[in-house]
Amino acid sequence: ENAFKGELPLKGIKALVTSGPTHEPIDPVRYLANRSSGKQGYAIATALARLGAETVLVSGPTNLSPPPGVTVKNVETAREMLAACEASLPVDVAVCAAAVADWRVDIDATQKIKKEPGASTPELRLVENPDILATISHLTTNRPSLVVGFAAETEKVIEHAVAKRARKGCDWIVANDVSPETGVMGGELNTVHLITRDGQEDWPLLPKQAVAERLARRILAHFTDRDKN
Ligand code: CTP
Ligand code: CA
Repeated sequence: ENAFKGELPLKGIKALVTSGPTHEPIDPVRYLANRSSGKQGYAIATALARLGAETVLVSGPTNLSPPPGVTVKNVETAREMLAACEASLPVDVAVCAAAVADWRVDIDATQKIKKEPGASTPELRLVENPDILATISHLTTNRPSLVVGFAAETEKVIEHAVAKRARKGCDWIVANDVSPETGVMGGELNTVHLITRDGQEDWPLLPKQAVAERLARRILAHFTDRDKN
């Protein structure tokens, strides 16, 4: 039993990972989106599943293949992502790596918006999307015992991430600098800082897959320590 547990040390643990961008429709043929590739979240789901966690990946639109051994639920919008996450509970650990669109378009256009000769250009009014990480973090029933968020920042990375962890109510925040010059958005590498309730850990520049493996090991350590007490 121990040898088996050694190979699959997260066996018995359920994990939920969000990943990718969301697409927020403007009309049936247009949408608002962002530059997220989904790579980091897919790599995290892969790493957790490899360690034996029963893993659900709720993914916005990406070009990535479903990771082996992971249950993928594909969604388009932030509201669909939240619903799919809620339907996946309870889990032991939730990792919110999705680049959820902060706003959606406040229209219900069932037909393509047309250019009318002489008419003014359309104005898009935006409304705020639900915050999936904050919603999961603040659950009173079914709150995962470990909730991990990401903080994509372009300046004052640590300061913003520390404030973000407290505001969202999650346990850990993986903070990363997504300034254009870092190439993180859509790229293969990531420099992250792990912000916990107790402090901060700086990780070196690593391939996204290595960031994912390291995070999965940290999650394993969390559950191993918990089970010792
Ligand atoms: N997040 C989420 N739902 C949202 C917005 C963000 O679940 N509607 C999650 C992301 O998956 C990430 C964390 O919250 O884990 C932080 O996302 P980020 O965009 O950095 O934070 P925001 O609170 O949206 O703040 P801002 O974009 O203004 O920096
Ligand atoms: Ca945001």
